[in-house]
Amino acid sequence: MTEPAIQVPDLDTARLRLRCLMIEHAPAVHLVYGDPEAMRYWDMPPSIDLQETERRLTRSLSVDPQWHATWTVWARLDGLLTDDQFIGMVNYHARQPWNRRLALGWILLPRFQGRGYMQEAVGAVLGHCFTNLNTHRVEAEIEPENVRSARLAQRLGFQREGLLRDRLFVADRPRTQQMYGLLRSEWGG
Ligand SMILES: CC(C)(COP(=O)(O)OP(=O)(O)OC[C@H]1O[C@@H](n2cnc3c(N)ncnc32)[C@H](O)[C@@H]1OP(=O)(O)O)[C@@H](O)C(=O)NCCC(=O)NCCS
Repeated sequence: MTEPAIQVPDLDTARLRLRCLMIEHAPAVHLVYGDPEAMRYWDMPPSIDLQETERRLTRSLSVDPQWHATWTVWARLDGLLTDDQFIGMVNYHARQPWNRRLALGWILLPRFQGRGYMQEAVGAVLGHCFTNLNTHRVEAEIEPENVRSARLAQRLGFQREGLLRDRLFVADRPRTQQMYGLLRSEWGG
C-alpha cells in the first residue's frame, strides 16, 4: 500500500524551533559532526571537514522522508526567533510504515547539554511520529557506555529491551548497542 507523501514540518516548543534539515544548515551541522566528543557514540566517525559534512547531508537529503528525516534544533536563547542558536539535531530513520515503527537519533553540542533541551526536542519529534506518522513503536539504539543518552531515553519513557552485540561497525570497529523501545500506548505526550 502506498502512503501519501510524508511532510517534515517545522516543530516549535517552548524554548526551541526544530527545522527540517536543509543543505544550507551544513556549517551549523558541522559544529556537531566535526566534534569528536559529540560524535563519540554516533554511527559514523566525525567529519574531517565541512565538505564531508555537506556530502553527508546531501546523502541524507536524498532519502525520501518516508524512510528517514532530520531536524536541526535551534534554541531561542533570548526568545527572539531572529537570534536562533543551533544546538543539535534529531532524526528518525529505519522507518517501516508496514510495521508502524521507526528509530530516533539525537545529538547536542556539548556546551548545550544539561539544560533539558534534547528532552524537549525529542518530545516534539515523538509527538509528530505518534500523531502524524501512524507510528506504533519507536526505537533507540544506545551503546551501554552512553549514559547520558540512556538517561534521556528513560526520561522519555523508553524501556531497555536487550543487548545487540556487535550491531554495527564504525571506523572498522564493532559497536554493541542496547535496544530501547517506546510504544504509543506508553508515551506520555
Ligand atoms: C544524548 C544527549 C543528547 C543527552 O544530552 P542531555 O543534555 O543529557 O539531555 P537533555 O538536553 O535532555 O538535558 C537533560 C539534563 O538537563 C537537566 N535539566 C536542566 N534544566 C532542565 C529543564 N529545564 N528541563 C529538563 N531537564 C533539565 C536534567 O536534569 C538533565 O541532567 P541530568 O541527566 O544530569 O540529570 C547528549 O549527551 C549528546 O548529544 N550525546 C552525544 C550524541 C549521542 O550520543 N547521541 C545518541 C546516540 S545513541
